[in-house]
Amino acid sequence: MTSSPLARLGEQTTDLLSTIGSLATLDALIEAEPSLTGKRSLLSTLQKSLGSLEPDDRRAAGAQLQAARRVVEEALSARRSELERAARVLQLESDRLDLGDVVDSAVVHALSVGHPGLIATTQSQLEDVFVGMGFTVADGPEVESDWYNFEALNIPPAHPARGMWDTFYVDLGEPETVVLRTHTSPTQIHLMEEAVARNSLPIHSVMPGRCYRRDTPDASHLYSFHQIEGLVVDRGITFADLAGVIETFTRAYFGSDITSRLRPAYFPFTEPSAEFEVTCTLCRGGGCRTCSFTGWLELGGSGMLDPAVLEAVGIDGEEWSGFAFGFGIDRCAQMRHQLTDMRALIENDTRFLEQMS
Ligand code: PHE
Repeated sequence: MTSSPLARLGEQTTDLLSTIGSLATLDALIEAEPSLTGKRSLLSTLQKSLGSLEPDDRRAAGAQLQAARRVVEEALSARRSELERAARVLQLESDRLDLGDVVDSAVVHALSVGHPGLIATTQSQLEDVFVGMGFTVADGPEVESDWYNFEALNIPPAHPARGMWDTFYVDLGEPETVVLRTHTSPTQIHLMEEAVARNSLPIHSVMPGRCYRRDTPDASHLYSFHQIEGLVVDRGITFADLAGVIETFTRAYFGSDITSRLRPAYFPFTEPSAEFEVTCTLCRGGGCRTCSFTGWLELGGSGMLDPAVLEAVGIDGEEWSGFAFGFGIDRCAQMRHQLTDMRALIENDTRFLEQMS
């Protein structure tokens, strides 16, 4: 008895399937197709050899071979779709418009994402410290009438103290002179007026914002800078409360090795008035050029609310007392980050901006 021509069909089918699986390109598949399923393929050769079989055997073998052919043809068509899809992707990639002439496609720069600048960051850190101490945060206009910026603060026209603030005038007109605020103190007036109108005293607020002075910029002055004002109006407020708030703030913001001290000073809207100084953040009090070898740096002004100011806004100075303070936000940023030149804060040099992000 001769062995069936299909004795190795299973093995042969497996070989064909693995050949199909290894076809790597559409061209390779097209080239291999005749030898896999065409007239000269193994399957066709086997088909022909069935002629020598007995009719019954031939029918059975024919069905077997038919099934094998179907498996091979399906595998071939699946592989064809796969390779076609891959070819399409390649085609799309190579068709993509190359803007090499317009942009430098060889160098792809990382996108740099914006972030709050040092002044904004410092402002919100300062707000956080004061909010933690029970203060609310308020806002005021940058363009003020002479009355808010000066007169209500006990600085009448032609008062010699006006020389303390070199002022940008927006309008010298009658009846009202309009200025760019030279400090955040006019916001005190707005707050007190509102509290009187709403009968909502006491006040415990800080007021950050931009101010302007006709100063020539140098390492420690900008013509546009930022201050944060503090105002407390309550019953039984004393100078000790002012000193306590300044000291608590100083340690909370600069660190527990930095302390504050008050020195007598003059401001028309506070009486008594004090300048406040903090330990030099560069030498930590040892004495260096920045602090003129004193170990202290001046940060801002403060004092008990002058009765003339309370009167200007209609607050009864017999019942209420309070204090105010004001200092530079930019100066805080400079001190905390030990910037030798404050102008770095407004120059927008991207190297500086990135370093301070
Ligand atoms: N407004 C003052 C200044 O800019 C600082 C200050 C604020 C002083 C509040 C006393 C009270 O110079």
